[in-house]
Amino acid sequence: MLNEFVEYLSHPIVIIFVILILSLIYVLKPIPDSQLRGPLGLPLIGYVPFITKKPHEKFVALSKKYGNVFSVKLGVNKSVVLADWASIKEALSKEECLGRPQQIFFNAFFPVKNFAMLEGSVWKEQRRFMLKTLRDLGFGKVAMEDHIRDEILDLCDKIEKQNGEPKELTKLLGGSIMNILLAFIAGKRLNRNDKEFKRLMETNFPERNMTIATIGATTLSTSITKFLANCHVLGFNELKQLLYTLKGFAEKQIAEHKENFDEANITDFIDAYILEMKARQKIGDVSIFKDECLFGITIGFFGAGITTTVDLLSWTLLLCCYFDDCQKRIQLEIDNVFGSERLPSYSDRTQLVFTQAFILEVQRWTSFVPINLPRSFSRTLKDTYIQGKFIPKDMQILAIFYAVNKDPTLWQNPDEFNPERFISEDGKRIVHHEALLTFSLGKRSCPGESMANAEVFLFTTYLLQRYNICSSDGSKPSLECNFGPSTQPKYLNLRFTARKDEKR
Ligand code: HEM
Repeated sequence: MLNEFVEYLSHPIVIIFVILILSLIYVLKPIPDSQLRGPLGLPLIGYVPFITKKPHEKFVALSKKYGNVFSVKLGVNKSVVLADWASIKEALSKEECLGRPQQIFFNAFFPVKNFAMLEGSVWKEQRRFMLKTLRDLGFGKVAMEDHIRDEILDLCDKIEKQNGEPKELTKLLGGSIMNILLAFIAGKRLNRNDKEFKRLMETNFPERNMTIATIGATTLSTSITKFLANCHVLGFNELKQLLYTLKGFAEKQIAEHKENFDEANITDFIDAYILEMKARQKIGDVSIFKDECLFGITIGFFGAGITTTVDLLSWTLLLCCYFDDCQKRIQLEIDNVFGSERLPSYSDRTQLVFTQAFILEVQRWTSFVPINLPRSFSRTLKDTYIQGKFIPKDMQILAIFYAVNKDPTLWQNPDEFNPERFISEDGKRIVHHEALLTFSLGKRSCPGESMANAEVFLFTTYLLQRYNICSSDGSKPSLECNFGPSTQPKYLNLRFTARKDEKR
């Protein structure tokens, strides 16, 4: 009797039937206690196969059906999607929404307390220290500006060697921005021909497309990610190798800094952190500032600070070519303030109102960070409501910045590129709009904002002071882009011609 029953259960039709029923239960199961509606997905992978290449546009389309606060299952993560200014402003300013999803692919390969994942008092103290160190080491101040200047001059050197021939810029800019970050973290810059430089560049600009592995690793469970890496499929093993490169680099830098530590000569982030650890050890407080956090912060800087900045800079240069009249206006402003000889400086930025407005409009118009880095409700038992809707804890929050940056109720003619919207009526100063979402808002907003702004402003003004920039064939360049956490122009093949012989 039992044998017959087992035989019956193992019949393929019965198995398919059971899988179908279980799938339906999974898909139709509502999120507990939630009033959220949202689209259905598939078992295990949820809505991932339907979000298309442009998830932000898909989410905006879904918001028309389900409202501006709705739910979606993405792999193992249950998410609440926020698609308007009111819900995003409310959520990101809330104490309860300062958490981060703990599912992060690094952990499939080695344990790391990546800064962007920390929560609670550990995160608060590390963040306070990070912001103080960013200020002390000089963002917008001379020391850091010197590093940025060195990299720009090195870039100009490479451009000049092209003799006016077009150049694909993404990796060239990537190398400059990576070296600036290295100067901040570890007080060094690497030669572009150095093996270590090339390996590190691969972590942010991989030779092969890692989209599937990256999306998979952030949505699947860590054990599936590990399994796929061991099977050497879909680029998961390559992703693992890249993460190990980063790990090796961070460990080496920390070890070297400890060995050569000189309390009287603190010039970079790792030194400043070691000094803080020593000071706390003296008073017997070893709970928060420790090696594993320093390691996590170093890795976090690499993940957060390179491609984002390169993408903003790339869009700024590309749109200078696309809107040639704006390029000319920026050059006029540079010529009026600095002439052709004096090098631009960040402290003079208030005099370059149009240039600053242009960079702000690039952020809004491209909305190149279309969706915020996921937040989650902190692991407290506090109930939370967004726009009056109850949201259970442990859900991840996806704030669709793109929906706000393109909202016609917030911006007049949002599809029109118009830097003037950031300039006061008398034309003398910048008007900031709180609904411009690039670096996010609230206590967890981007701590690297000043660094990125200084870099983009200085690269843009230095380059436009020296060169006219146009697409490789002089026509309007393509604005096609690749989608990732931040979007990047697909083609950044630009031609630089020296302005030195031009009559100004
Ligand atoms: C244009 C360049 C950049 C953009 C658009 C950008 C954008 C963002 C965004 C949207 C977040 C998530 C904020 C949130 O959860 O609400 C973030 C977090 C973060 N960014 Fe940036 N970022 C840029 C450059 C940088 C740079 C240069 C650094 C390093 C110095 C950096 C370090 C970080 C860190 C450490 C976090 C995590 C903050 C936390 O969890 O408390 N970013 N960034």
